[in-house]
Amino acid sequence: MSARIPLPPFPRGWFQVASSEELTPGAVVPLRAFGRDLVMFRTQGGEVRILDAYCPHMGAHLGVGGRVEQDGIRCPFHGWVFSGEGACVRIPYADTIPPKAKIRSWEARERDGLILVHHAPGDEPPSFEVPPLAEARSAAWSFHMSRRWRIRSHVQEALENIVDPAHLVAVHGILEWPRTEVEVDGHVIRARSTVRQNGPGGRVVDGVITWEGHGMGYGTIRFTGIAEVLFVNAVTPIDEELIDVRVAFWLPSDGSQRLGQALAAEICRQIEEDIPIWENKIYRPQPVLSAGEKGIMTLRKWSSQFL
Ligand code: FES
Ligand SMILES: [Fe+2]
Repeated sequence: MSARIPLPPFPRGWFQVASSEELTPGAVVPLRAFGRDLVMFRTQGGEVRILDAYCPHMGAHLGVGGRVEQDGIRCPFHGWVFSGEGACVRIPYADTIPPKAKIRSWEARERDGLILVHHAPGDEPPSFEVPPLAEARSAAWSFHMSRRWRIRSHVQEALENIVDPAHLVAVHGILEWPRTEVEVDGHVIRARSTVRQNGPGGRVVDGVITWEGHGMGYGTIRFTGIAEVLFVNAVTPIDEELIDVRVAFWLPSDGSQRLGQALAAEICRQIEEDIPIWENKIYRPQPVLSAGEKGIMTLRKWSSQFL
C-alpha cells in the first residue's frame, strides 16, 4: 500500500497483460503485474499460458531465455520442462521428478485481441468472466488501434475518472458539466454520461458515453454523438506504485472513419491530460463532494468488493 494512495494495490479480477499480437506462437515474454514477476508464453497449439517467473530448481527467470516445448516451457538454466499448468514434466538428466517441482500457474484468457490474467489472493478461482465483445466479432466494426501508458497511480483512481463529470470540463475542456448516472449490478458497473461536444462546422452535438466495467481491470466505453467509437479500457496494477492503462479502439466499418479516428485521438489526448493529476494527487478516503458527484462514492462501494 502506498502512503499517497492507502488502498490495497492489487484487486481481484481480470487484468490485461498484453495484446494478442505481442505473443506470436512459440513466443516467451516476461511480465510484471501484481508486484510479481511472471512469464507468458504461447504453446505450439496456440494457447496462452502464464506462470510465476522463477524456476523452482535454482531460480532462473523462465521469461529470459526460456523456450516453448509443445505445450510447456523449458527453463534456460538446466533444461527442466514445465507444463502450461506449472507441473515439471521432464528433467533431462533424471528419471524421477521431485514432487515440489511445480510453479504457480495463472488463469489466462484471450478475448478479442486482449490477453487477460486472473488475479486473486491465494489461488481463488475466478468468480466471473469477461464477456465477449460483440463489435470485435462483427463485420460492421473494425479494429482501429491500441495504446498503453504506465502511470504512477492506482487502478481505482483511473476508474474514478470515468464517473467524475466535473473534471471533464476543468481538465478536458468539455463544454458543459455532463450528467453522469452510475448503477451497480454485482461485479458489473455501468455509467452513462450525457456530454455536449463541439462538432464539425461549429455544430454543438449531444453525445452519450456509456461505460460497462466487469471488475476493476476490464471495461468497455462506447461513445455516440459526433462519431461512434468503442474502446476497451483496461487498467492493470504493475506494483504498489504503478499501473498500466490500455485502450483498444474499434470504429464502425462504414461511414466516417475520419471522425471516429479523430475522437480516438482526442480520447488518448484526454488520458494524457489526466496523467499529471493522477501522478501527483493523494487519495481522499472521505472526499468533500458537491452535488452531482455521488457516482464517485457508488464506484468506491462497488470497487471495495474487489480490494
Ligand atoms: S533453474 Fe530452472 S532448470 Fe535449473
Ligand atoms: Fe479524464
